Amino acid sequence: MADKHGGLDDVVAAETVLSEVDGLAGRLIIRGHSLDQLAGAARFEDVAALLFGGFFPDLPQDLTAPLGAARAEVFAETAGLGAALLRLTPVEAVRALTARLADGDDLATALRLLAAPAVFAAALIRARAGQAPVAPDHALGHAADLLRMARGAPASAAEAAALDAYLVTVSDHGLNASTFAARVIASTQTGLGSAVLGGISALKGPLHGGAPGPVIEMLDAIGSPANARAWLDGALARGDRLMGFGHRIYRVRDPRADALKAALSRLAAGSGALPGRLALAEAVEAAALAVLKARKPGRTLDTNVEFYTALLLEALGFPPDAFTCVFAAGRTAGWIAHAREQALGGRLIRPQSRYVGPAPKLAA
Ligand code: ACO
Repeated sequence: MADKHGGLDDVVAAETVLSEVDGLAGRLIIRGHSLDQLAGAARFEDVAALLFGGFFPDLPQDLTAPLGAARAEVFAETAGLGAALLRLTPVEAVRALTARLADGDDLATALRLLAAPAVFAAALIRARAGQAPVAPDHALGHAADLLRMARGAPASAAEAAALDAYLVTVSDHGLNASTFAARVIASTQTGLGSAVLGGISALKGPLHGGAPGPVIEMLDAIGSPANARAWLDGALARGDRLMGFGHRIYRVRDPRADALKAALSRLAAGSGALPGRLALAEAVEAAALAVLKARKPGRTLDTNVEFYTALLLEALGFPPDAFTCVFAAGRTAGWIAHAREQALGGRLIRPQSRYVGPAPKLAA
């Protein structure tokens, strides 16, 4: 029987040791650790090592140096960053540069793919501002180096910690659309690079990882807390979706929103500019929840990860149209782990479709 919604709701399509999304309790577990144990406490490379555990025979405990070396290796590809790539959106350009890397299923390939979105996103941000790319510093942590490569100057420890919290928070999330795409691709026993390219392609859609850029546009259009209710009401009356709200699995607040809000508050403690922006965001969030409740009474719609992603990445100085690239820098860890899990233990994913088209005409 065909899935009645066409969205595979409630279909279990894989068993995984990697993460569990409990949509009713609003809880995310990543390899035996709850999100609140990891976000703000663990570094991204340590969570990547946690996700990769058991999937690569030669996996070192500490990925700091090997991931740093992989950043240096993929940096060579930024030499190909010409006018044609700069005409693409940043996430399309990151995908194009990633497609140039050799495919494979070993640890070296995995680390190059893990390094790639950070190195390419930073180089793209600079190239669009007419600046030369900054080579990686392999001794730094991944988050600190991503910020340094994008800015051309070292980030503060607080900023690096905030980006670490973000990358950890988005590193894996059950069978979301991009991870499912990566697993389908990996199920054919093709390489990790192919699975990651599929993941990037699914991620960039506005219903998935493309949402946080438009969140900034929404906040800018609203401008002040007093305008929030009327603006949001108008948007829903036009049939628009409010970016950063709603989720297929969560029927309560997305726990990642709180993890990111906490990271933002820690960052704001040392910043003069952020509190006003945060106050606007909180007012918009409250108004959006009220308007969604009034206009969509049959559906529980709450804040998702993308709302505070937008605020946090903006505070760290990333341009909104590059937010999806930074998301990819975190989620690639999950895509790679899921692709390995699928390739090592799963079967070819090959569901069926039900034909509803016309029957062939019979010859006269
Ligand atoms: N704003 C307004 N209405 C919404 C929203 C929203 N953000 N989200 C869902 N709805 C409404 C739909 O219009 C629909 O209403 P209807 O029944 O009156 O037609 C109903 O809720 C159900 O919508 P579906 O699309 O079936 O719900 P689904 O579970 O597939 O939606 C999704 C999940 C795609 C994330 C949706 O909530 C959405 O579009 N949100 C905005 C985009 C966004 O924030 N994406 C990021 C998600 S998090 C991530 O991927 C990392």
